[in-house]
Amino acid sequence: MAEQQWNAEIYRRDGAFVARLGASLVDLLAVVPDERILDLGCGDGTLTATLRDRGARVLGLDASEAMVAAARGRGLEAVCCPADSMDFDATFDAVFSNAALHWMRDPDAVAARVFQALRPGGRFVAEFGGEGNVASVRGALADAYARRPELGPYPDPWYFPSMTGYRAVLERAGFALHSIERIERPTPLPSGVGDWLRLFADHALRELPVHMAGGIIAEVEEALAPRLRGADGIWTMDYVRLRLVATRPEARS
Ligand code: BEZ
Repeated sequence: MAEQQWNAEIYRRDGAFVARLGASLVDLLAVVPDERILDLGCGDGTLTATLRDRGARVLGLDASEAMVAAARGRGLEAVCCPADSMDFDATFDAVFSNAALHWMRDPDAVAARVFQALRPGGRFVAEFGGEGNVASVRGALADAYARRPELGPYPDPWYFPSMTGYRAVLERAGFALHSIERIERPTPLPSGVGDWLRLFADHALRELPVHMAGGIIAEVEEALAPRLRGADGIWTMDYVRLRLVATRPEARS
């Protein structure tokens, strides 16, 4: 499978809604001035900057060089590192993550690293795609691949767990879970599903000949229009979120 690559400029144009939808997660985090926060999967740093503006000492972390460069371009401190190999030791009062954990395919390793990064009593506040997220697109992409057997099976890079499944991940890592909820959030797209695919399904399209990638996008659009495109022409994606608050328990004396 090709690795997903990000273009920070296109993300700013077509992906700005991701940070807008994460604004209430920042409220849930309730930043305490001067506390140390890790923004896990910080992307271009839009919400990292919000955390800073609310008084946190914040570090962004992302696996994409392009996104880290964009975050640094805002004057933020940011490092490029896959979450499952970060190595902080009780460094942060909180770990925050919006719309990023579903890109990380080894949830147990990530949860263990987050746990390790938090001081005892520190909190993990996160939202990401849950079971059923973008099911329409996943199905249509798999169908388009199936019509081209020479491509092999559709390379699905996303991890969208159930609440039960992710609760178990957190428990295995040692977290105390305070809340977890599944939220159905139909999300209007600023442009169509074609632009969404070019931005978020780059892993499935980039290495294909241009005419084939274009053919797949056209087929997905045609298959999904009856379900996702309104009479006004606006596309609404079938987003489903998991939103959670967990803490690293205080050390026992
Ligand atoms: C999401 O935020 O749910 C998402 C984004 C890109 C690809 C798949 C899901």
